[in-house]
Parts: sequence; structure tokens; C-alpha cells
Amino acid sequence: MKRKSRKVAIVGSGLVGSSCAYSMVNQAICDEIMMVDRTYDRAMAQALDLSHCTDFMGTRTKVYAGTTSDCAGMDIVILTAGANPKPGQTRLDVLDDAKTITRSIVTPIVESGFDGIFVIAANPVDIVTYLVWQISGLPRHRVIGTGTSIDSSRLKTLLSEVFSIDPRSVNGYALGEHGESQFVAWSHVTIGGKPILHILDQHRERFKHLDLGDLARKTKDAGWEIFTRKGSTHFGIGSALAYIARSILNDEHKIIAVSAILDGEYGQKGICTGVPAIIAGEGIQELLELNLNEEESAKFTASCDIIRRSIDSLSLS
Ligand SMILES: NC(=O)c1ccc[n+]([C@@H]2O[C@H](COP(=O)([O-])OP(=O)(O)OC[C@H]3O[C@@H](n4cnc5c(N)ncnc54)[C@H](O)[C@@H]3O)[C@@H](O)[C@H]2O)c1
Repeated sequence: MKRKSRKVAIVGSGLVGSSCAYSMVNQAICDEIMMVDRTYDRAMAQALDLSHCTDFMGTRTKVYAGTTSDCAGMDIVILTAGANPKPGQTRLDVLDDAKTITRSIVTPIVESGFDGIFVIAANPVDIVTYLVWQISGLPRHRVIGTGTSIDSSRLKTLLSEVFSIDPRSVNGYALGEHGESQFVAWSHVTIGGKPILHILDQHRERFKHLDLGDLARKTKDAGWEIFTRKGSTHFGIGSALAYIARSILNDEHKIIAVSAILDGEYGQKGICTGVPAIIAGEGIQELLELNLNEEESAKFTASCDIIRRSIDSLSLS
């Protein structure tokens, strides 16, 4: 019996796209990966290099180069083609470039007959995800941004160091914009199931030096810590993309803080921001509405306002 191949296109064969592809090849997440780039030779070279991993892996992933017009049969298109902010710029400063690039990519993909799920990492990711939703005309559950998945992972890594435990034993989220206005929902951070706020209350002396505000700042600034030293961040986000793709292709129902289009959830409509969601075969199966406390709700609203202003500044006609 012939099984249907799981196919993923990665548009943007730079550092993020190739790190994502490498992570997927290593974990045998799909059967085929098509690398796409505006510089075809770059996509081809990445595909060739990645295909040479096969001999050293447990399973075979076919990796080849293609174009945005070849996306018809893809289950997922991962979008990593984008403008990187220059030193001193925020992610929102590259909005105009992002809009031009996104339109030039999504239009031919849709025209090719693509009927799968978009997963987006290109920055500013909340706005680009919104743009992809608008341009593609796909239902909102099939357009997913990486959102604060990487920030949440950075938070877990920081906490794992403080508490000397595995990051996967920490549960919690950075929410809102993947950018300056994100925040940590401390009221929902648990370690081994126990709320962190209870732990700190119970062991005041032991954790008296722990400053949650500082940890939230380090979570937010971690990307810049890397970016200012090596000019890009790509392994973490590449893994986050692969993790989301795996949850879709294997119908895993993982809960991941992704950038999702809100339609009334959290009292917000017509914007895209980082919230926890169940990621399954059809894309976003459900958004989780956390009971945020008053301070967190105010931060969430403020972050949504910033994203909304950027969306409103885009002329989408
Ligand atoms: N969401 C996140 O957490 C996160 C983290 C890191 C980077 N990023 C973003 O990912 C994007 C890519 O970053 P990178 O470090 O891989 O950059 P990069 O410069 O290494 O790669 C970008 C690639 O996109 C290609 N490209 C540009 N315009 C294109 C187009 N119109 N069609 C096809 N290909 C095109 C370029 O040729 C290049 O190969 C940026 O927007 C960056 O800000 C997001």
C-alpha cells in the first residue's frame, strides 16, 4: 500500500530556513522538503547539502529545490524569507520590506493551488502572519506564526537554570507580541505542576534574590543578546518551526504559544498575537484563553494595541 508523502516547502533558504530544514531532516518529520529562495542557487545548494545528511540518519527525507509556483501539493509552507532588522531597529521597523516580500511570495503560492497550512517565522512575525492570512484568503486556523513559542522556550530555559531542572518540566508562556511589548504570564507558570508564585511564597529566603521582572526582561532580550553578537538567531527558531510542523503532520495536539488571528478570544478581534493554541492536523484546533490577572490583562491589551497600530498602518488593498 502506498502511503501519502508528507511534504513541506520552506520559502527562504537562509539561516532560519536551513536550520529549520536541518532540524526536520534530523527528526524525520516529513518525507519531502522543498527549499525555495529568490536566489535559486542558494535553495539548490542548501537542498544538496541537506540531502548529504541522509547517509548518516536513521531515515530518509528527500530534499530538493523548487519555486513558489511548485507549492500545490505541499501540506505545509514555512515562510522564513524576510528582512532582518539592522542594529538599532526593532522588528517593527522592517514592516514595509516585510509587506513587499510577503505579498511577492504568498500570491504565487496561492495561485499554484496550495491548499495546506502556512507556518510563518519572518519578522515582524505577528504582522506578517496577519498579512499572510489576508493575502492568502485561507481560514485563520491554517495560518500560524511562530509567535512567542521561542520566547516561551527562552523563559523555560532561564527558569531551568534557576531551579536546576529540565526546561521541559517548566510550563508557562510569554504572551503577546514577539517583540518589545511581550510579557510573561507569571500566574500561569508552573514547575512540575506547582505554580512558581506559590514556590516563591513558600521558600522566600531561598529565592529572595530571584527577580521575576529581570527574568521577563532577559526572556524578551534573549534574541537581541544573540543577534548583536552573531547577526542572526536561527537554531532555536528553526527548532520551533520543526516542532510546530511535527505537531501538524503527526496530529499531535501539542499546546504551543503561536501567533494566531484572534476573533473575539481575549476580547480581541482582527489582530494576530502570541497565545497558547492546540496545534493538530488541521492547524490551530483551538486557542486557549488563560485567565490572566488584572496586570497581565492590561499588558496583553497594551501589546495588542501596538500590533493593531502596525496592522492599521498597512494599506492592504
Ligand atoms: N520569529 C522569530 O522568532 C524569528 C527568529 C529569527 C529570525 N526571524 C526572521 O526570519 C527571517 C529570516 O531570517 P534569516 O536569519 O534566515 O535571514 P537570511 O538573510 O539568512 O535569509 C533570508 C532568505 O530569504 C531569502 N529571500 C528574501 N526575499 C525573498 C523572496 N521574496 N522570495 C524568496 N526568498 C527570499 C533571501 O534570499 C535569504 O536567503 C527574518 O525576517 C528574521 O527577522 C524570526
